[in-house]
Amino acid sequence: MPTRICFVCLGNICRSPTAEGVMRHVVREAGLEHAFELDSAGTAAYHAGEPPDRRSTAAARRRGIVLSGRARQFLAADFARFDHVLVMDRDNHAAVMALARSSEHKGKVRLFRDYDPAASGPADVPDPYYGGEHGFDEVLDICERSCRRLLAELVEPVGD
Ligand code: 4NP
Repeated sequence: MPTRICFVCLGNICRSPTAEGVMRHVVREAGLEHAFELDSAGTAAYHAGEPPDRRSTAAARRRGIVLSGRARQFLAADFARFDHVLVMDRDNHAAVMALARSSEHKGKVRLFRDYDPAASGPADVPDPYYGGEHGFDEVLDICERSCRRLLAELVEPVGD
């Protein structure tokens, strides 16, 4: 059974499609495409149907990473479809938890940066939408560190 992961941010056009694209990249590098199903979603529907933000796409492309998909809103039904729901910030965490109807579903939700070896304590992926180019590169740096650790933990769970 593949491990199913949904990355979640606010608009599903900047941070979560970047996390999804970086995860696809590191999973492919490891030859583990068959072992994962990856998706992303937004807690808001403002940008539903849109491709990833062109600034995110350009910053990813400079690193050889392809962003794909169309924005969609995260739904309560997604808890049944995914094993892990990884949220980009604490606002996303509150919005997603408000949709969870069981402790099993709540237990699937974690802050993405819990996997960031450079983060100390609960940390958000900063929203780059209203900022400059640097913010998009910072998101990519965070995603590269966090996705590599995430993959390592899923392949060899700590404590096993
Ligand atoms: P994201 O960034 O949550 O990383 O996709 C945003 C995209 C759009 C908006 C806010 C954040 N917006 O307000 O439209």
